[in-house]
Amino acid sequence: MDPRLTRYETPVSDELIQEIWEMWQKVPEDVGIGSDISMLSGHLTNRTRSEDRKLLYVARVDGVVAGTSMIWISGRDPVLCEFGLPATAAEFRRKGIGQALFDAPVSDFKEMGGEAIFLGTNHVNAGRTYFRAGYRKLVASITHVRVLSGVSPEEYFVEFFRGLGPASVFPGETTDRTSAVPLVHSAHDWQVMDANMSTLSRRYFVHRGFAGQVGRYIGLLDDENATFFAARAGDRQKVVGLSSAKLGDDGVCSVDGFTHNNYGDRWVPLIEAAIEWGRSRGAASFRATVSVEDYEKRDLFAAQGFQEAGPADDFFLDGVWLKLQPNGRPVGALRLVRA
Ligand SMILES: CC(C)(COP(=O)(O)OP(=O)(O)OC[C@H]1O[C@@H](n2cnc3c(N)ncnc32)[C@H](O)[C@@H]1OP(=O)(O)O)[C@@H](O)C(=O)NCCC(=O)NCCS
Repeated sequence: MDPRLTRYETPVSDELIQEIWEMWQKVPEDVGIGSDISMLSGHLTNRTRSEDRKLLYVARVDGVVAGTSMIWISGRDPVLCEFGLPATAAEFRRKGIGQALFDAPVSDFKEMGGEAIFLGTNHVNAGRTYFRAGYRKLVASITHVRVLSGVSPEEYFVEFFRGLGPASVFPGETTDRTSAVPLVHSAHDWQVMDANMSTLSRRYFVHRGFAGQVGRYIGLLDDENATFFAARAGDRQKVVGLSSAKLGDDGVCSVDGFTHNNYGDRWVPLIEAAIEWGRSRGAASFRATVSVEDYEKRDLFAAQGFQEAGPADDFFLDGVWLKLQPNGRPVGALRLVRA
């Protein structure tokens, strides 16, 4: 490891957290660290994401903290991890510190038998540093994946789902977070994978965020009026399908979900699990929203007793908003209801 770096395993001391927070005040870009120390200290004390193993990298110059990075190693599937907390304080840039902070977790994780590291970035400068550390950007997404075998992220995601055997449906857990990354970021044939969660397929829509894509599901576990279910397969309990349920103030429960193409047979059990949860919370009826062009999903909902109940707000696909102008196409949506 670069002699300027020290590796820590969380939880770390309050003194170190304070030093790191002070360093982050000297990072001019917004990298989502939050406006006070609580988010940082949550991760570094293990108050947040206690299910994962966290390795923190701290760079120092003459004893002063100059930069950080961290990996969150999945508690369920420790060959997968997420990279974050990456920055060098402005005054210490262009000295190779960032590269060292991005490279060290890659070589450590490789040595530990790791398989893939995930992250998201909109930052052009960081993108170059990531590329040199071996990360490759996923098509139509800001997600970058460092596949330690060297294959492309797309190839890795295809292989990830091969030969897993049958899947079963379970209540969602926090450890689904990293396990669900390949599923949520695989290009799905359906335009709208889960309307409840604004999960759109990157085959039709450019993903502008990373952590929130699965993080939104995990967030439901803190909401007493919502939840999610996961279909999992194989020894590693890989997530091959997701469904969500949200109980509205009107007593109607919104449900939706999707599976990997290999696990279409799990869609009905996932939706039924969401409906059953809604019923147990007193929901009298259920609703869903689908793209008019997701013919297969419309048929599946119809077979589950959902009926069309008029238009919903359009989905916006195949493009981006250029200032206020949409450069893409609105696709009609349908409201579905089931008593
Ligand atoms: C991305 C970031 C971490 C890089 O930090 P850094 O310490 O400056 O990184 P490095 O010094 O390794 O590399 C930066 C550049 O300096 C160059 N460099 C490295 N050593 C150098 C030296 N001794 N002299 C001159 N240039 C040098 C590198 O070649 C690199 O060039 P390029 O990226 O323009 O092609 C930093 O810009 C940063 O904190 N950005 C804001 C936070 C951010 O975007 N984080 C990622 C969010 S996902």
